Amino acid sequence: FDSPLSCSIPKRAIEAGLVSVDLIQIRDFATDKHHKVDDSPYGGGPGMLMKAGPVVASIRAAREKQPDTHVVMLTPSGTRFSQAKALQFTEKKAGITLLCGRYEGFDERICDYVDEQISMGDYVLSGGEPAALSVLDAVIRLLPGVLGSPESAVLDSFTADGLLDWPHYTRPVEFEGKSVPAVLLSGNHAKIEDWRKQQAQQRSNKERG
Ligand code: ADE
Repeated sequence: FDSPLSCSIPKRAIEAGLVSVDLIQIRDFATDKHHKVDDSPYGGGPGMLMKAGPVVASIRAAREKQPDTHVVMLTPSGTRFSQAKALQFTEKKAGITLLCGRYEGFDERICDYVDEQISMGDYVLSGGEPAALSVLDAVIRLLPGVLGSPESAVLDSFTADGLLDWPHYTRPVEFEGKSVPAVLLSGNHAKIEDWRKQQAQQRSNKERG
């Protein structure tokens, strides 16, 4: 978790004291001498599952530190993460606990100890960590005071109208024979706004329609 949190916006947000991130190592809550956190599934099948004992003990440790923390299990079987969910998480003033599994998944009984289950999408990661980092990043940039201009977050894809973002261009005007659309250079703000809305609609229909 160190390097993604040590650069750019998360780094600045942490340094400015706008957010803090604590790590809890599930293995520290294993009770056997090999610090075992996984075991094979009852009923057979491939892979290993996170054991209820160490995982539930680590959830309890998180709640001990922060009694009202909102515990989120990261799993491909959860509700799909979204900008709306990221915004909801910014309201969790006691913080969120992101529970990362490894191997084939969690013992099902662990679900009774979490507040919700979130998936990054219909694909399987080898662990919940990249999912947790995505949630962290999406939430941190929405926290008050984190982005230079509060407008940036408001204008993000999805925030206002659920549409994808419109295309953006910066200097130079001409790149390898490809020009910036003339409307963006026109100085006509009403026209620019219309163009952007229409492009966002078109792109959303094409990519998600
Ligand atoms: N762990 C493994 N795959 C995942 C996914 N797609 N989303 C969240 N957590 C996961």
